[in-house]
Amino acid sequence: MTLTHSKKDNNHLPLTPIIHPWIKGLVANASLLHDAVAKFSSPLNVQSLVPFEENIRAFKSIFDKYQLKHRVYFARKANKCVTYTKQAAKLGEGVDTASFEELAQCLEAGINPAQLISTAAVKTQRLMELAVDNHVTIIIDNLDELALLEKVTESTGKQANISLRVGGFTMDDRTLHTRFGFSISHAQKLILENLAHHPMLNYVGLHFHLNGYSIPERAAAIGQCIQLIDLLAAQNVKTFHLDIGGGYLVNYLSDRSEWENFHTELKRALLNKRSELTYRNDPLGIVKIEDTLHGEAKVYPYYNEVHKEGFLESVLASNVQGYDQPIHQLLRDREIEMRIEPGRSLLDQTGITVARVAFRKHDSDGNLLIGLEMNRTQMKSSSADFLLDPIHLPQNSIDSYDGEQETFGYLVGAYCLEQEFILLRKIKFQAMPVVGDLLVFVNTAGYMMHFFESQAHQFALAENVFYEENERFSLDS
Ligand SMILES: Cc1ncc(COP(=O)(O)O)c(C=O)c1O
Repeated sequence: MTLTHSKKDNNHLPLTPIIHPWIKGLVANASLLHDAVAKFSSPLNVQSLVPFEENIRAFKSIFDKYQLKHRVYFARKANKCVTYTKQAAKLGEGVDTASFEELAQCLEAGINPAQLISTAAVKTQRLMELAVDNHVTIIIDNLDELALLEKVTESTGKQANISLRVGGFTMDDRTLHTRFGFSISHAQKLILENLAHHPMLNYVGLHFHLNGYSIPERAAAIGQCIQLIDLLAAQNVKTFHLDIGGGYLVNYLSDRSEWENFHTELKRALLNKRSELTYRNDPLGIVKIEDTLHGEAKVYPYYNEVHKEGFLESVLASNVQGYDQPIHQLLRDREIEMRIEPGRSLLDQTGITVARVAFRKHDSDGNLLIGLEMNRTQMKSSSADFLLDPIHLPQNSIDSYDGEQETFGYLVGAYCLEQEFILLRKIKFQAMPVVGDLLVFVNTAGYMMHFFESQAHQFALAENVFYEENERFSLDS
């Protein structure tokens, strides 16, 4: 019995990913990937330290350009592999940990505690004790955390280094909403009245992390922190560092027009003005009321011209209210150590997810479905869809196939839900995938691999391997 090809769709829109040379090399050596999946099972997360190091160096080059004291703290919540944390430490940088387990694993890996910080959103007594015991700087978010930390320092007799999380900055007469941190005025009062002369709690710096990707909002937040730092300095209270958190945009796509077209055409599809781009015309978060669309697709902005170190540089080159010099000069003049906590952006191009084709079939509407040996929690972020074209790696070469073999379909996974789609977008295949072929999803190390992975149906979690120059794969350790 043969499977019919889905009819040609001349309106298909590509979203071509940027692909790092290490990934290109590996994909060109398909038998190596087929062997790796046979050995480690499907799906397999394959990663590389080469771009990770390049990304760290790129951020550092900006700080060096402006002669700023700095440290890059890799936000390891974006990917659970301990290999990255060890590499960041080896390069003299730091790791931002978000739980007891993340911190404990870094300490067990032998990372110098001076290179670790704890930004956990909920800090248990156990976490506080571990951090205090090892002199790890703790980012304090609220008064209850502070009270617990004080208790821990009293019972252990050890002092704690604390950085205060601040938030609720103002811009254009509005408050930037957040559920995190103290307002600038509250922080000022707390530092001057409670921390400046505390016998056990050492105030060492300020921290913030902003939601979203606005450069002006980050600049405004830094400006308000500098005002506070100056005010404290006038009272002889020194601030050693300013930590501006993560959120440096990544550019995933190679073509601006592809990205813009996709959004235009998605809306046309939702209004039934063209063939669908997503499964059953999924709106990706756009709301349709009668014949009107509201809002934009709730997806990560995959195409960005200002990204990673360029994004950081734009922040540092900004001017802020109340001062005549740009941010980098304000910070250099005050000899403040700049800290950043990039997660996604340090993982740009460091990983791929590889899955094996298990079956092909049609749904009740006749859509072609390609079933993969993976589930959607193994490649999922808060974005409504991962908008990059995957790579089809057949077991046998498809070089000889002509355009007539093209087919269109959707990728589905192993959970027993109607909604179990690996990608919601309709995918073009150069030829009909065959059982045993591989699908490669590029640039998935940041958040996609681990953030939402679950073990429903008792499926094993994907293995994580690092690809090395000698064509070897070593397990994360
Ligand atoms: C406190 C903090 N720091 C750093 C990050 C990392 O952000 P990104 O991966 O966008 O760089 C996050 C992400 O949620 C965060 O909450």
